[in-house]
Amino acid sequence: MADVDDIRDGRNFGIGVDIAKQTFHVKGMEGSDWGLKNRMARIFDRNSGRAVMLAFDHGFLMGPTSGLERIDLNIVPLTEYADCLMGTRGIIRSSIPAACTKPVCLRSDTGTTILTQMNDNLLICEEDAIRLNVAAMAVMVAVGEKENEASTIANLSQAVDAGMRYSIPVMGVTAVGKDMVRDARYFALASRVCAENGASIVKTYFTEGFEKVVACCPVPVVIAGGKKLPELEALELCYQAVQCGAAGVDMGRNVFQSEDPVAMIQAVRAVVHENMKPAQAIQLFNDLKK
Ligand code: R5P
Repeated sequence: MADVDDIRDGRNFGIGVDIAKQTFHVKGMEGSDWGLKNRMARIFDRNSGRAVMLAFDHGFLMGPTSGLERIDLNIVPLTEYADCLMGTRGIIRSSIPAACTKPVCLRSDTGTTILTQMNDNLLICEEDAIRLNVAAMAVMVAVGEKENEASTIANLSQAVDAGMRYSIPVMGVTAVGKDMVRDARYFALASRVCAENGASIVKTYFTEGFEKVVACCPVPVVIAGGKKLPELEALELCYQAVQCGAAGVDMGRNVFQSEDPVAMIQAVRAVVHENMKPAQAIQLFNDLKK
């Protein structure tokens, strides 16, 4: 029986005070379910509205590429500075401590390596994403690639269907085929296609005119870093992207292949969350560098 001893009547009903209106800090999510919003809020900072996602999923295509030879040594020390960890299920399970409470964006498609046809991928089972307690799933989409466009858009749609059943957002990862022109027109198309098909986050590449890519995409856009650049150039890339409206970065090689990855991710954070200018951020990098 319930404890009925000393039950006190409520007295503070706030009569005359309107119920607090809730606004959500992530673009395009107002109409979403609480669970999906809560997952997005674990990724995107409430103050800046942005995220530093650390991408280390490259091995599923590339194997032990430079900077990812030993996840325990190369990536685990960076996790405390990331807002979200993007990796594959094999690496998350084997190499990221389960006590790490950073949200995970799970690479959720698979099926090809750099040795074969790129993007000929299919989805992993969403039940495994749930078992891994992920905050989001990520799926590659190859817009404009004759052989893979339809199957990768179908993958995205299927992932969104599965994700929506459990309020797990899906990030559409725009893969750029070798024949595509990497301009704002193409990235706006690819990003919009991801959003139209239900992606809650879009990951794409920075280009001139990026403000148009962001403006016509109704959900947050984060940029991939791409191939390793000198640190100052990578910080300039981050700065330009967020100034054009990007909701942050999902960056890999420019962090884990840096001469000092721990210093680099902190400099990237300063640019993304504090709008730190590149000249100051490179100074921060140099100060933090061991
Ligand atoms: C590409 O499919 C992978 O998902 C990477 O996560 C992505 O390219 C971001 O990494 P990076 O900054 O090294 O380009």
